[in-house]
Amino acid sequence: MRKKIAAANWKMNLSLLQGEQLINDILQSGIKLKEGQEVVIATPFPYLLKAKTLLKNYPGFYLGAQNCYSEKSGAFTGEVSAEMLQSVGVDYVILGHSERREYFEESNAMLAKKIDMALAYGLKPIFCCGEPLEVRKAEGQNAYVATQLEESLFHLSAEQLQQVVIAYEPIWAIGTGLTASAAQAQDMHAYIRSQIAAKYGREAALHLSILYGGSAKPANAGELFACPDVDGGLIGGASLVAADFTAIIEKLS
Ligand code: G3P
Repeated sequence: MRKKIAAANWKMNLSLLQGEQLINDILQSGIKLKEGQEVVIATPFPYLLKAKTLLKNYPGFYLGAQNCYSEKSGAFTGEVSAEMLQSVGVDYVILGHSERREYFEESNAMLAKKIDMALAYGLKPIFCCGEPLEVRKAEGQNAYVATQLEESLFHLSAEQLQQVVIAYEPIWAIGTGLTASAAQAQDMHAYIRSQIAAKYGREAALHLSILYGGSAKPANAGELFACPDVDGGLIGGASLVAADFTAIIEKLS
């Protein structure tokens, strides 16, 4: 059975104290994870060590980072390496988020290198893909996402791919309140799974978790997560409120 994951992407939000309070509120909420369910909390870099100490005694709760650099180490001022993330106990790392692709010009080729770095240091990549609105309007979303997969993931071995989680985040749904319909999400998730199956075989495709991201909220998470190829969510705004994020966790199938 593939993992069902609720992943929180805090982005560049919260003070340390607010983040500590949020994690404690989530952990003390009484939420009970079923077998195969996981929660990932991806904090800003400065909070990782503190978050690790808060999460470490809670099975099923994992620490995430929101990025890592594409090189092992060196003169890259301001960057954070996969090895550094490993050294503070990070489990997952979000790579290829559309905001990083846009603001920091991260290409598919650069992301392939980041994926390799993350895997080399035992981190599980949450690889983000998804199309902009103009591509969706032109019905080009499948080809767009297929290119992202091919150029960033398809150099991996089948064994390496088992460590990867994919997050489909239609750019036009991120932070807009405009959520993809369950049918749109299911169509794209099924398509992504079919591309994985064509490259790596049916078993590998069935094993791989594919999350939905883009204005997922307690009100729509149930319908989204009920889709056969939606294995949870990568949550932005709603993950900053303990009651909302725990309500989304409870919707995991
Ligand atoms: O990485 C998740 C994020 O892009 C989704 O943001 O605020 O639409 O849930 P939001």
